[in-house]
Amino acid sequence: MKIITIAGARPNFMKVAPIFAELRQRPDWKPMLVHTGQHYDAAMSGIFFKDLGLPEPDVFLGVGSGSHATQTAAVMTAVEPVLLEQRPDLLLVVGDVNSTLACTLVASKLGVAVAHVEAGLRSFDRRMPEEVNRVVTDALADFLFATEPSAVENLEREGVDPGKVYLVGNVMIDSLIRFQREAERSFILERYRLRPGQYGLVTLHRPSNVDERHSLTQIAEALQAVGTQLPLVFPIHPRTRERLDAFGLYARLRALENLHMIEPAGYFDFLKLMRNAKLVITDSGGIQEETTFLRVPCLTLRENTERPITLSQGTNRLVRVQAEAILTAVAEVLDGDAKPSRIPDLWDGHAAGRIVDILQREMNPR
Ligand code: UD1
Repeated sequence: MKIITIAGARPNFMKVAPIFAELRQRPDWKPMLVHTGQHYDAAMSGIFFKDLGLPEPDVFLGVGSGSHATQTAAVMTAVEPVLLEQRPDLLLVVGDVNSTLACTLVASKLGVAVAHVEAGLRSFDRRMPEEVNRVVTDALADFLFATEPSAVENLEREGVDPGKVYLVGNVMIDSLIRFQREAERSFILERYRLRPGQYGLVTLHRPSNVDERHSLTQIAEALQAVGTQLPLVFPIHPRTRERLDAFGLYARLRALENLHMIEPAGYFDFLKLMRNAKLVITDSGGIQEETTFLRVPCLTLRENTERPITLSQGTNRLVRVQAEAILTAVAEVLDGDAKPSRIPDLWDGHAAGRIVDILQREMNPR
């Protein structure tokens, strides 16, 4: 059984790694790894391949950055000849990035079955490019693997055949569990003189937050004020770095003694930073889930989340993108107002195994 697994951007790599490792152990499968090159810097891609033990991709499409249309079209054009030449039995995509959508579209039209891992998540906010990617990918996928019950309900409401939907848990948590010992050996805390439980971790990259001058200014003001109470470490995504500069905010933040603006962190360093943080301020999707697993308070600077289990069961809270609101939420955490939380069912380190078991069972009779 020939399966092509697609990896495109940073949040894909920790999801692909456990599935690819599982496939390589099963004699029935011949897995190939295709990297679209949507993310390409060593800090956004290379270090994750190394930390996660992913092999060199069999094919690197090298599409690079661009507008949504340019990037999506570039992935489509580049992946089509690979699928035509390899004629896989299955294409496996993860998450909600442009590469996920582009490869799904091409495979569907070539009659190649598609498995989507992390299917059914919905923010119900079509202004998010990822929401469009999710809806279209799920409409075309043949196997839909969900991380939480809300995703199964969303797919049912959209009329997806329930026989194609499987609640399997969270492959990103498989990676977190698998690599926690390696992450503990990171020296990132020492490097920035951070003490466990006595700093906040910040990540930002959503266009709605960082591409808007007003939002980014509100966040910068909040970080400046929070930094007077709690040291902050802020690994900066290239998009955010560029926008902070363009809005004249970068130099101001850089000058703050208690705010460490650092390069994007590798997987081990980031896990170590997350596990030991007093709180995390983010607009990422995946980090909402990782902090829920780690039981670290997470303040998500967004109006909505496609991962509602992190609110109902986990440590996540949505916070308005407004300086006062952020400061109030931080104060609540610092005052010890932690909400009770639990680790969601099936976030147990074995999701990839369940996925491959299902694929093996369902694909073999064909
Ligand atoms: C993409 C995903 C988003 C994901 C995020 C994680 C889509 C629609 N967006 O957003 O869902 O949460 O990745 O990071 O697929 N750049 C570099 N080096 C790189 C990659 C990008 O410098 O290796 C710069 C480029 O200037 C680029 C900008 O970052 O224009 C943004 O990259 P892009 O891939 O367009 O979107 P992300 O914001 O990273």
